[in-house]
Amino acid sequence: MKRVVVTEYGGPEVVEIQDAPEPEPGQGEVLVRVQAAGLNYADIMQREGYYLGGPKPPFGAGFEIAGTIEGIGEGVTEWREGDGVMGFCSNGFSELVTVPAANLLPKPDQVDFAQAAAIPVQYFTAYHALCTLANVSAGQVVLIHAAAGGLGTMLVQIAKLRNAVVIGTASSDEKCALIHELGCDYPINYLKTDFEAEAGSITGNEGCDLIVESVGGEVFDKSMRCMKTRGWMIVLGIASGQVRHVDTSHMLFHNLTVAGFHLMAYTQDKKAMEAGCADLQTWLGSGALKVIVGHTFPFEKTAEAQKQMAARQTSGKVVLTPA
Ligand SMILES: NC(=O)c1ccc[n+]([C@@H]2O[C@H](COP(=O)([O-])OP(=O)(O)OC[C@H]3O[C@@H](n4cnc5c(N)ncnc54)[C@H](OP(=O)(O)O)[C@@H]3O)[C@@H](O)[C@H]2O)c1
Repeated sequence: MKRVVVTEYGGPEVVEIQDAPEPEPGQGEVLVRVQAAGLNYADIMQREGYYLGGPKPPFGAGFEIAGTIEGIGEGVTEWREGDGVMGFCSNGFSELVTVPAANLLPKPDQVDFAQAAAIPVQYFTAYHALCTLANVSAGQVVLIHAAAGGLGTMLVQIAKLRNAVVIGTASSDEKCALIHELGCDYPINYLKTDFEAEAGSITGNEGCDLIVESVGGEVFDKSMRCMKTRGWMIVLGIASGQVRHVDTSHMLFHNLTVAGFHLMAYTQDKKAMEAGCADLQTWLGSGALKVIVGHTFPFEKTAEAQKQMAARQTSGKVVLTPA
């Protein structure tokens, strides 16, 4: 079978498609035939070697899949062959992958496999950041960066489902049109309009209640100045690669909270995951939440898909599929 391997730290050229033996499910695992796998910005960070605690090359890339169960390991009682699933794994960009049974969720009926592959990382990150951690409420002003991306399109919709006022930044008018369609009240093309000044004018210079920051560098610095007194910022990414340090004096005198967020700490929280699954079912069932797959590439084009994502040329979720 084929799988995508990162052979060493580096640019897209270190990504290769290789032959590998078919895996067999061990104790507590199932074998999944992958129909679609989600590409994440973290795949690029892992390939470049700046993902804290990331795997050492050579490693099989991909950690989010949707597919069909083809084999059941010892001790697994909750799944059957033929079940449609989605979930978290290693070696996700493979035709077949073994996954701990507990890492999987049933594929919702309302979505196809490509959309299902867009749910585990992006939906649950957006859900837990906005609902479990920040508990966003009606009328709060939420500023979302990279709002047209895989994560951003989920954040915008969930913030609107919570009746927040949403300001979203993106790098093109097309991306702004997409987030506007998803309910974003104030889309800002940050290449044309200064988002700090615009957030000031939208909030009457009061600032935002919550900022979801995933870029780092200057975007982080400016975002700190867009926070309301007693406002919150959730830092969940550094797409620019530029790590920033917080000015504790500024934080203290303006009563600011800057919180870090990493999804893996929430996937172990059974109660929070159950709440996320219940809301997912309700929102998909009513059509209130749409899963936006912007691009699909075959596994062979993984390097190209990563190149386009890093160059800000993608919107919505990027999905990879076996041939
Ligand atoms: N902490 C967690 O658990 C967690 C989970 C999922 C994702 N994340 C983070 O959330 C962010 C979005 O992830 P994603 O997978 O959904 O990717 P994505 O948003 O689909 O793609 C990345 C987007 O980031 C924006 N961007 C801004 N500055 C950039 C730069 N210097 N280089 C590249 N892109 C830049 C671009 O949007 P514009 O063109 O509109 O600027 C680009 O389209 C990433 O930072 C990722 O690491 C964190």
